[in-house]
Amino acid sequence: MSHLLTVSRAAHLTGVTRAIMQKHIASGALSSHDGMVTTEDLLKVFPDVRLEDTGAFERTAKIREEAFGRRIRERVLPNQEVLAQRLAAQSEELAEVRRHLTSYHDLIEALRERIDAMVEASPSEQLVALGEFIDQGLAGVLGSEETADTLEVLDDVLRVMTAHVKVKPSGREFFVEGNETVLEAALRAGLAPSYGCRNGNCGLCKARIVSGKIQQVNQTDYPLSASERAQGHALLCSHTAITDLEIEMLEANLPSDIPEQEIVATVRKVAPLATDIMLLHLQTPRTGRLRFLAGQRVTLSISGASTSFRGDYPIASCPCDDRNLLFHICNNPDDDFARSLFAGGITASDPVSLFGPFGDFVLRKDVVNDISFVVCDSGFAPAKSLIESAVAANMPGALQLIWAATRDNGHYLENQCRAWAAALDTFSFSTLKADDLPAAGVAAAARLLAEADFARREVYVAGPPGFVEAACKALTAADLPADQLHYETF
Ligand code: FES
Repeated sequence: MSHLLTVSRAAHLTGVTRAIMQKHIASGALSSHDGMVTTEDLLKVFPDVRLEDTGAFERTAKIREEAFGRRIRERVLPNQEVLAQRLAAQSEELAEVRRHLTSYHDLIEALRERIDAMVEASPSEQLVALGEFIDQGLAGVLGSEETADTLEVLDDVLRVMTAHVKVKPSGREFFVEGNETVLEAALRAGLAPSYGCRNGNCGLCKARIVSGKIQQVNQTDYPLSASERAQGHALLCSHTAITDLEIEMLEANLPSDIPEQEIVATVRKVAPLATDIMLLHLQTPRTGRLRFLAGQRVTLSISGASTSFRGDYPIASCPCDDRNLLFHICNNPDDDFARSLFAGGITASDPVSLFGPFGDFVLRKDVVNDISFVVCDSGFAPAKSLIESAVAANMPGALQLIWAATRDNGHYLENQCRAWAAALDTFSFSTLKADDLPAAGVAAAARLLAEADFARREVYVAGPPGFVEAACKALTAADLPADQLHYETF
């Protein structure tokens, strides 16, 4: 018999993105009823799915650093305790199914005997026909050599390794792998849950477990009240999922939902990306990570005995890694922090103060439109954060990047963009060069107009002011609705 799966779980099982799964549904190749697909229909579209298959998933796994087969064999095995709990939960479910099956079987047998007795007492053609119908049905079920549904078996195996979580009220979904905490899994999946310390002290990650079982994996000092416990509240940073869960969790949807934070981070690396663009990699303390939305900025500052430098920069990395923060900093004679960085005044192990986040150049998670990023030079930095976050969140729309450059080596991470394009069916990428910023803005807008329409499309423009002004002017003149245009200058 066919098994019903959510679109997320079907994508998880077959190793494709949710966007691809939805494309199959939209094209009519895959039937969907109330957001669910059957394993039978799924196998028709993905006939080669096997437990050891690493095909399509492996390509996206380059982005997520995991391969399907390897995940099962090596990486994501829960620890013994969690594994035992998950097996116990699944065994309970299996025992319950067996109990039901046995009861139904006994009921059918009793019904058959009752019909025989009635026929003996008062022969009736209809009762005889009913008896024969039951005999045939039982023979069909008991004598069937139908093999188990491959995807159902795969789903059962994966449920030991991973648990599915559905979030209320947003309806977002993600998977907890191995014995990672529910909070870690939510962040990895591109969600923006409420949290603070990540070590069981602040209580900000408190959520209500509506259904399913959890297991504590980290110590916590935060005292949940008796009534909170009775209502099913738990700290997501301290628990993993034993079974599939439904949880009520606070999520940040707007920049105003994220508090300003002040953190002293450590420089992990300073390395040139191009002749006048430097990579700055900061790492926060384990217990003081930065909560932010993709596309936001922070203020970085360094204070010495007699000097202090500060500057505002967009974060070039994904909020799913809230400890390792990347920045692409341009050499700018008017920017003291950048001048110090390029002069070798900021080096590995130095402390850097970080204040923020700021800015509303963020993804709209309430819309499912395609997204175009139109950027110039280091305007790629916030776009990189947005793209990585959209990929982590498995956002359903297509992603398009148009990257203009006005300087040599201006496409300083072109290889990374090509790798995304190779790994993700829903990502496309093109570059262009121009002599100055306004010309780059006009050319990038013209490229977008030539390649895409504005129906169901969000456009994010980022770069120096001359570029952003020219691109936005051209896009507005081409009737891009104002609420679909987002821009950031720096
Ligand atoms: S994030 Fe502070 S208790 Fe969980």
